[in-house]
Amino acid sequence: MKFRWCVIGAGGIADRRAIPAIIKDENFELAAIMDRTPAVAEKLGKKYKTKFYTNEETMLKETPCDGVYIGTPVALHVPQALTALKYGCNVLLEKPLAMNAAECDGLVSAFKRENKLLDAGYMMKYHNLHVKAKNLVQSGKIGQVNTARFFFSCWYPEIAGAWRQNKALGGGGSAMDLAVHCVELIEYVLGEEIAETKGFLANRTFSYEVEDTCVFLFRTKSGVIGSIEAGFNAPDGCGSKMEIYGTEGCVICSGTLGQEEKGSLSYLHVPFGGYDAMQNSAAPKPKRYYGAGGDLYLKQFRRFAALASRGENDYFYAERAAQVQRVLDGVYAEYR
Ligand SMILES: NC(=O)c1ccc[n+]([C@@H]2O[C@H](COP(=O)([O-])OP(=O)(O)OC[C@H]3O[C@@H](n4cnc5c(N)ncnc54)[C@H](O)[C@@H]3O)[C@@H](O)[C@H]2O)c1
Repeated sequence: MKFRWCVIGAGGIADRRAIPAIIKDENFELAAIMDRTPAVAEKLGKKYKTKFYTNEETMLKETPCDGVYIGTPVALHVPQALTALKYGCNVLLEKPLAMNAAECDGLVSAFKRENKLLDAGYMMKYHNLHVKAKNLVQSGKIGQVNTARFFFSCWYPEIAGAWRQNKALGGGGSAMDLAVHCVELIEYVLGEEIAETKGFLANRTFSYEVEDTCVFLFRTKSGVIGSIEAGFNAPDGCGSKMEIYGTEGCVICSGTLGQEEKGSLSYLHVPFGGYDAMQNSAAPKPKRYYGAGGDLYLKQFRRFAALASRGENDYFYAERAAQVQRVLDGVYAEYR
């Protein structure tokens, strides 16, 4: 029996990444798609040879399914996830899970009450190099971790009607859209939560109502201090960085933040040595690892389907996503 997926909000990332991942797996079936724009729904229904709808309730009423993927503007996440829950569905909801932590907590509680699976679309933790970074860091291979930093940006100019540029629909700008991935990843790699933040939000380049620039410092519960820079105003070619430094080395990921399993990881291990006042001792060469070229979305869908098929309602990642929003709530509270 195939795992049957329904998709709500089929025209954006769903069409670019999620549905192509679903149809790659012969154990999955794309049971139906829905988009509020009739022309988009029809075009995608024909493209993917599946039933198409412009109303999620009608789709869910008429289409038995095992999992619903939701890829709509953030303000719609909670109401649409609750509609899917009303029809007894397990839900894989895109990031950020909701507009704020309180909404996330309410959603997680609702899914727990109904004993249905809820997961959040933070797929970057499935990147082989991020798994490698986590394993190196958590097995002590760079010693005591002290600092970390991120750079993650894209070019996102003013676009008339874009929901991401509208506070009421997206909840925020580059912090809400990009920095959330960094928060989720650093908590995943370190295995601990961010407890405190201090930072700046700004509109440096564009005049939309959400920030195009975000820089904040964080401190984790154990005391690791780091920074996250996320902007909508650097050219796409600027790449991305996740750097983690410890007493015995570092892990530096370049070009790994994004939708593809690409980029590289450089791992340097320097065993404890004596104090060198000239600082010219020959450093060992870093080891380099490369993105495996897999499909991050497919890995995410397979994990979800395996859990849902076994009736194992693991809320761990949904609760991590709620924690990410708690961090973001703190960043926004300082500047609004
Ligand atoms: N994990 C990732 O890699 C990733 C990447 C991009 C976006 N996202 C997330 O996915 C979500 C959607 O972002 P996007 O870039 O695809 O946006 P988008 O605007 O490109 O696409 C959203 C789609 O939802 C449809 N839509 C709008 N209102 C709707 C409604 N009421 N009911 C049904 N469909 C509706 C739109 O017609 C459009 O087809 C956001 O939460 C975003 O943060 C995740």
